[in-house]
Amino acid sequence: MTFPSEPEAVGRDLPRRDGAVKVLGTATYAYETPLANAAYLHAVQATIARGRVTALDTAAAEALDGVVAVLTPGNAERLASTEDRELAVLQGEEVAFRGQVVALVVADSSEVARHGAALVRVEYAQQPHDAELRADREDLYAPESVNPDLPTDTSEGDVDAALAAAEVSVEETYTTAMYHNNPLEPHATAALWDPAGEGFLTLWDSTQGVHPTRTALASVFGLDEAQLRVVCPYVGGGFGSKGQPHVNVVLAAMAARAVPGRPVRLALTRQQMFSLTGYRTPTIQRCRLGADRDGTITAIAVDVVELTSRIKEFAEQSGVPARMMYASPNRSTTHRLAALDVPVPSWMRAPGECPGMFGPEVAMDELAERLGLDPVELRIRNEPAVEPGSGKPFSSRNLVGCLREGAVRFGWAERDPRPGVRRRGDWLVGTGVAASTYPVSRMPKSTATIRREGERYAVEIGAADLGTGTWTTLAQIAADALGVTVALVDVRIGDTDYPMASVAGGSSGMTTWGSAVVEAAGAFRAKYGSEPPDGAEASGSVQPADDRHAMHAFGAQFAEAHVHLDTGEVRVPRLLGVFAAGRIINPRTARSQFIGGMTMGLSMALHEQSVLDPRTGHVVNHDLAGYHITANADVGAIEAYWLAEDDPHVNAMGSKGIGEIGIVGTAAAVSNAVWHACGVRVRDLPITLDKVLHALEERPRH
Ligand code: MOS
Repeated sequence: MTFPSEPEAVGRDLPRRDGAVKVLGTATYAYETPLANAAYLHAVQATIARGRVTALDTAAAEALDGVVAVLTPGNAERLASTEDRELAVLQGEEVAFRGQVVALVVADSSEVARHGAALVRVEYAQQPHDAELRADREDLYAPESVNPDLPTDTSEGDVDAALAAAEVSVEETYTTAMYHNNPLEPHATAALWDPAGEGFLTLWDSTQGVHPTRTALASVFGLDEAQLRVVCPYVGGGFGSKGQPHVNVVLAAMAARAVPGRPVRLALTRQQMFSLTGYRTPTIQRCRLGADRDGTITAIAVDVVELTSRIKEFAEQSGVPARMMYASPNRSTTHRLAALDVPVPSWMRAPGECPGMFGPEVAMDELAERLGLDPVELRIRNEPAVEPGSGKPFSSRNLVGCLREGAVRFGWAERDPRPGVRRRGDWLVGTGVAASTYPVSRMPKSTATIRREGERYAVEIGAADLGTGTWTTLAQIAADALGVTVALVDVRIGDTDYPMASVAGGSSGMTTWGSAVVEAAGAFRAKYGSEPPDGAEASGSVQPADDRHAMHAFGAQFAEAHVHLDTGEVRVPRLLGVFAAGRIINPRTARSQFIGGMTMGLSMALHEQSVLDPRTGHVVNHDLAGYHITANADVGAIEAYWLAEDDPHVNAMGSKGIGEIGIVGTAAAVSNAVWHACGVRVRDLPITLDKVLHALEERPRH
């Protein structure tokens, strides 16, 4: 392994290599892949939340000029594996959630496919469904583990006794909403089944991982992986929703096999994405903190209730960050799920940490209030010396540095701790703070190949760039590991024809793929020295992580909130984050990740909320008119900074993942700022004006 301690390309704010083609509109996204004579697909969705399809009348659709085929459970191919019930589409008559695909129209144009889908008549035998999450349900159960593979419950010491003995305590319930990922590019797949020989399926799919998609689809269709190629050079955002294949990929592959030799294209509509591509479960978090008068925490307990779907379990790990954030001799965390007749939940930026740092970080603010202690100082007083639970030393932990640096930059020292006492015109003004954290993850498998091509170096690995910067940052890492100028390095990613790469998930991409690239460069230099001949080639794979250290990135986020005295409208004119995330590979793309995450956190705090009507099992605001995502006019100043952090343990580059930490803690910082502005603790997200209005009505106006 060779990587310079003072790199030359790494750390430079090089522009994105894919920037020009994206700005020019010539970057080819999955749906736009040039394919002659393509057919178009449109899915028919169930309008009940539970029951059976008793009749499907496709005659009118089939009679429509331009309709090529209508696939139904009656004529669709039988899949080789139906173990993943989310992907087992058109395999039976059962309806398990509203919006489930019950038929698929194949036509010569997307318009005709959509029209044809509207002509399919579906009759159902409806059964009573259950789509309501409540903490007092009697059927809550403990999953075997929580995402990705963590213990469901943990317990140390005696929380109840410690809480009973605590001089100061907080016991409150916090809730976060259901949220849907809305990447600009919808979930889209093009597919071509070449019937010659053994058959070969090519998928152009908007995905966070071409190899994981290939593995999943090979299993569903009973193909050898060698019979499948997945291609994805560009992704218009994923945020986790493209981290695992959803039903669009299976539908496209199925239709391609139904019309052999003819390519097909499927792009889900925005509305369809609200039932078919995953979402973040709502959470109900009971948080309990106990402390001594001096602010030393003696008990931390977080009990989370969430939902999952009846057909496939996803257990979001929202109780997990409370296991390692602060020191405490007594601690317990639990997760309980309700399995409901709802679409399948999945990954959304920082699953676990994102919702799981809302309750505890507001509870910390409430504890600080009751102690009469500054909330920055309360956090600093409860720094653990080693990782709680595991007892491992941290590879690096600079939460305190982030809090201190952020406090200086934000102007925290001038803050009057009393809530509801500052006015600017008709607005009440407040500030708040919360902490961020995200684990450093390394996937077990990824390989890179480096080849000399004339004067240049080609780096090949099936990695993904979701808009995150991979095209650029892998070139920087390769250049330094090879000891050559970055302009000579070509990166090739997003294709299963390149060596196997792990999913762009869990902020693990740079650690995993970057390590494989450094290994490949080490092998290349060992084999060829400094004068490699044309055609010289070497590969390297990511090695297991150092398991003697606990590895996490940290951050501190500060927010300023304004609450309108008459209307209760909440605005956040300023967010400031300071992060400690190892070596920053590229400040330009990193800053974009941090402020993107913080913007998404602001959106979670104030605007986003999927409204699931339990009477129908339907997300009623299932489009961008009803589901508001923070837009330019909602965002004021967002500043992201980072500490120079030298961590020799995380990986050869010294980098920690940065894709997700930006969203962690933002909503708590905003809620804490809203309390400071108007004196109302908003413990359930999003923070809408109806939740603060009651306190404003009681205030004297002048
Ligand atoms: Mo991220 S939610 O792990 O793709």
